[in-house]
Amino acid sequence: MKERSVFPNINAPSEGRHRTETFRWIMESLKRDPTIGKKLADLGAGPCLFAQIACEYGFEPTAVDGRIARVPENLGSVTFIQSNVMDFNQSTFDVSVILGLLYHLTLEDQIKLMGKVPKTAVLVLDTQVHHSSLVQHDASAARGFDTGNVVKKKNYEGVIFPEGDNPMASIENPTSWWHTPNSLRTLLREAGFVEAITVGEPYVSKYGGREWIVARKAGTFSTI
Ligand SMILES: C[S@@+](CC[C@H](N)C(=O)[O-])C[C@H]1O[C@@H](n2cnc3c(N)ncnc32)[C@H](O)[C@@H]1O
Repeated sequence: MKERSVFPNINAPSEGRHRTETFRWIMESLKRDPTIGKKLADLGAGPCLFAQIACEYGFEPTAVDGRIARVPENLGSVTFIQSNVMDFNQSTFDVSVILGLLYHLTLEDQIKLMGKVPKTAVLVLDTQVHHSSLVQHDASAARGFDTGNVVKKKNYEGVIFPEGDNPMASIENPTSWWHTPNSLRTLLREAGFVEAITVGEPYVSKYGGREWIVARKAGTFSTI
């Protein structure tokens, strides 16, 4: 898998703004590539904010979430489907957007979900990654999360996170898997991705580091 990093000039005042500005930068870049189609699936869309932003860049989003509690009444031109992401058929989509979701899944489901990203599609990923230097120890300890316990499973390594009981958490699994940086790249490579671009530096969220990655299983990015 070819790997590189890009560093857009984003100076946002908050984590939320950093996320939306980074997503806007990615959407703008993908929009300029005429080989990338406009059908976009936003998996684990929650309040569908990112799907709505995607509309501004000419994409046609379908937002998917297992819960409807946070879906706004007025979705504009976003289509919403209530479904477990593991059952959703991504095969007709050009862009798979997976933001704040991957790390809520078990390792086994992450492998399956990455395998389901179509060969012709672009993946836009924002996920928690276990950078040991970025772990927020107090918040993590308060959650009963043993941040030092990096375990190996198959070809992967990461930490096991206890999922909460809240509208942002996992739908079925009591624990989820947070990859180390190398393990996340192994996941992508083994799922068949041939190019992965890290967008920006890792940023810090409540429990630790997160990263933005844009990846594809065929072709090459010309506008990022
Ligand atoms: C942390 S929120 C992220 C929301 C949004 N993508 C964002 O980045 O702001 C995770 C979302 O994924 C949904 N979710 C978790 N596991 C899911 C599953 N297996 N199938 C469908 N939705 C799931 C939750 O209901 C929640 O809305």
